[in-house]
Amino acid sequence: MNSRNRKHLVVLLLLLVCTCRTDAFFRTFKDWYDKLTPSNEECNEDWISFDGRGVGKGLEADLGRNLFGQHIASDVILNAMTGFMNNDNPKKSLVLSFHGRSGTGKSLASQLIVKNIFKKGMDSRFVHFFNSIINFPHASQVETYKSQLQHWIRGNVTNCAHSVFIFDEMDKMHPGIIDGIKPFMDYHYKLDGVSYQKAIFLFLSNGGGEIIRESTLVSWKAGKKREELKLEDLETALSSFAFDYYGESNVVDFFIPFLPLEHQHIVQCIMVGMVAMGLQPDHNKACKMADNIVNYIPDDERRISIPGCKKVASRLRHFKQSNKEVPQPAG
Ligand SMILES: Nc1ncnc2c1ncn2[C@@H]1O[C@H](COP(=O)(O)OP(=O)(O)O)[C@@H](O)[C@H]1O
Ligand SMILES: *[C@@H]1O[C@H](CO)[C@@H](O)[C@H](O)[C@H]1NC(C)=O
Ligand SMILES: [Mg+2]
Repeated sequence: MNSRNRKHLVVLLLLLVCTCRTDAFFRTFKDWYDKLTPSNEECNEDWISFDGRGVGKGLEADLGRNLFGQHIASDVILNAMTGFMNNDNPKKSLVLSFHGRSGTGKSLASQLIVKNIFKKGMDSRFVHFFNSIINFPHASQVETYKSQLQHWIRGNVTNCAHSVFIFDEMDKMHPGIIDGIKPFMDYHYKLDGVSYQKAIFLFLSNGGGEIIRESTLVSWKAGKKREELKLEDLETALSSFAFDYYGESNVVDFFIPFLPLEHQHIVQCIMVGMVAMGLQPDHNKACKMADNIVNYIPDDERRISIPGCKKVASRLRHFKQSNKEVPQPAG
């Protein structure tokens, strides 16, 4: 064997030894790591963030990056969440009611909240999601739904005080069910020995969407910038249907309006969708698409989009599959 070959052999042997060693090292490291991070989610600080400041920071960044065109909702959500989580001894559970037309980001906002509290995000076993149409469809069974839901809320909050309950399509929920769960959200120190003061309830509904849209249009026609629109401008409108939903005992801490989205926000959603699908984000294409795949009102000025960002993902998938060029705007 000449010296050159010998050198190669040494290098090869060294490599072999190294890989075996590193492999062994990673195995022990992984065992040790797994022990430190059990995969069974528990109701403690390993899995849930109790730190209001930390949650606030993460949420602020997430809302800023991901929720387009919702300056009022972003502000109110952030204030409500940090205020609640910084309080070691809240007097009642936190109840937020999101209002706005579909496709304006209500579900997205609730996901961002959950993601910043629970390590497992929406997969956490402490996050409970209900959709009125899917989970409580039959008016004839209101009493069954009601007692079942009360049982679940009680059971889950007993297991973990920090449970989160999300109710989607709240405007389609039977008033009897709402009445049944209101006590959990009110000012009670304890109910049957269980405290609900650390729980969070998020209600999502399209109710009020029309009024919010009208108010946005009026403000725009008066020459105001979107960002100048304040919660107070919408509060009267919001409170008018609050009563219909929740009755006299108002358990809701914050009514949060989601404004109708404009062309620029649809463009942003399309850009996000392009990245998510592994396409090269292209602003010009996104602008053209935003002109075409979404309807706007009023007819002449096309200010506000009707479906919001809801259709964006499916339309993009369609274009990608059919390998079609983005259609040119008509005219
Ligand atoms: N304001 C927004 N900013 C960013 N993405 C949005 C916004 N509104 C809607 N989307 C996107 O459009 C889709 C539908 O939104 P979603 O949050 O389910 O609307 P909603 O719950 O109000 O009907 C989601 O993919 C979401 O990410
Ligand atoms: C918690 O809620 C879920 C529904 O999200 C339900 O299936 C489960 O039975 C509840 N757990 C308890 C202990 O009540
Ligand atoms: Mg939704």
